[in-house]
Amino acid sequence: MKGSVCSLLVLVITSVLLTASPGDSSTEAPVRNFNAVLGQSVTLRCPGNLSVHIFRLYLQMQRGQTDYFINGFDTARSLPVTEYMNRTEVNQTDLSVTMSNITVSDEGQYKCIVFYTEMPNEEHVINLKVTAMYSVPTLMAECIHVNGPATGGKSCQLSCSSTGGYPWSEVEWPGLHPSESDNETESFQDPHSKTWTINQTVTYYCDHPTNVSCSIGRTVSHTITICEADSFPLRVNIAIAFVVTFVLFLVLVLVLMKCHCRRPRPNPEDPALGVPLADCHSQPQKS
Ligand SMILES: *[C@@H]1O[C@H](CO)[C@@H](O)[C@H](O)[C@H]1NC(C)=O
Ligand SMILES: *[C@@H]1O[C@H](CO)[C@@H](O)[C@H](O)[C@H]1NC(C)=O
Ligand SMILES: *[C@@H]1O[C@H](CO)[C@@H](O)[C@H](O)[C@H]1NC(C)=O
Ligand SMILES: *[C@@H]1O[C@H](CO)[C@@H](O)[C@H](O)[C@H]1NC(C)=O
Ligand SMILES: *[C@@H]1O[C@H](CO)[C@@H](O)[C@H](O)[C@H]1NC(C)=O
Ligand SMILES: *[C@@H]1O[C@H](CO)[C@@H](O)[C@H](O)[C@H]1NC(C)=O
Ligand SMILES: *[C@@H]1O[C@H](CO)[C@@H](O)[C@H](O)[C@H]1NC(C)=O
Repeated sequence: MKGSVCSLLVLVITSVLLTASPGDSSTEAPVRNFNAVLGQSVTLRCPGNLSVHIFRLYLQMQRGQTDYFINGFDTARSLPVTEYMNRTEVNQTDLSVTMSNITVSDEGQYKCIVFYTEMPNEEHVINLKVTAMYSVPTLMAECIHVNGPATGGKSCQLSCSSTGGYPWSEVEWPGLHPSESDNETESFQDPHSKTWTINQTVTYYCDHPTNVSCSIGRTVSHTITICEADSFPLRVNIAIAFVVTFVLFLVLVLVLMKCHCRRPRPNPEDPALGVPLADCHSQPQKS
């Protein structure tokens, strides 16, 4: 352990000394950007002149003021073992380092130093960005009646929450006008995975039926319709009540008519027996 720390120090110091040496052609090199997805792997390729013999390659991560050795190769000796050894693999042919099982802590700036036998060494800066997909947001609405001038007489508390994403993201509400709402955002970063849980609550004053959804990162919730509860179902309720009353009224009328116009029971002594149909007019005569 102590040995590896010492050789690491030596490495860092030598690399600093070497890169600080005059005649170094590295400083002008542009920054290369790489993107990685949490839990997956990424291949960081160091730009270097492959037609010139390369005897050493260092990939270092900048942590604060120090460069931390990650992996690389050296044709003359073996390099110190670091915590990255198990999830990095170096390809000497194309000067790349594949890093697997990416975590948010891997995000940052790297330095790749290429040592040529017949040329000054080169230093390249590599930027690694890590992203993690947010879960599909959960969208919930709770609407209450409010007394006030708002035309709908209602306000809805909409909450949109999602988890496991990186980096932090705004919550967006396609379909809602920002001017129509107040909002409050709670966010929490997991101390271990560094991913975010975000929950935004928006108070929306009902105006007309609105379809809303929310999005966090690039994931979008399902769509719900709010502010329709009163106007539309109330009308339906009235219509249903109307129809039911009408049907009941019809049934009542029919029942009454049936009672009134019931066909008289055949009576052998009745002289009117020969009459084929009893109707309402004949009924009073019967009794
Ligand atoms: C690589 O090095 C060779 C020899 O020094 C040089 O001729 C060539 O232009 C270099 N290529 C690049 C891309 O720098
Ligand atoms: C790397 O893997 C070996 C074997 O699986 C294990 O013994 C060692 O502790 C690991 N090293 C680190 C730094 O995780
Ligand atoms: C190294 O990179 C070269 C060129 O991209 C590729 O052909 C080769 O398969 C790689 N080697 C390994 C061990 O991945
Ligand atoms: C990947 O990282 C996670 C979290 O750090 C760890 O639990 C898991 O064992 C790692 N898997 C591999 C294959 O290294
Ligand atoms: C949330 O509040 C911020 C600041 O008050 C505002 O800029 C933004 O538009 C609001 N978003 C929504 C959806 O209301
Ligand atoms: C989001 O916040 C609202 C209001 O504080 C709360 O009612 C809701 O349960 C929260 N959602 C989640 C998933 O934590
Ligand atoms: C909401 O969506 C439904 C189903 O897509 C649609 O029928 C309805 O017209 C929409 N309402 C509004 C107010 O856009």
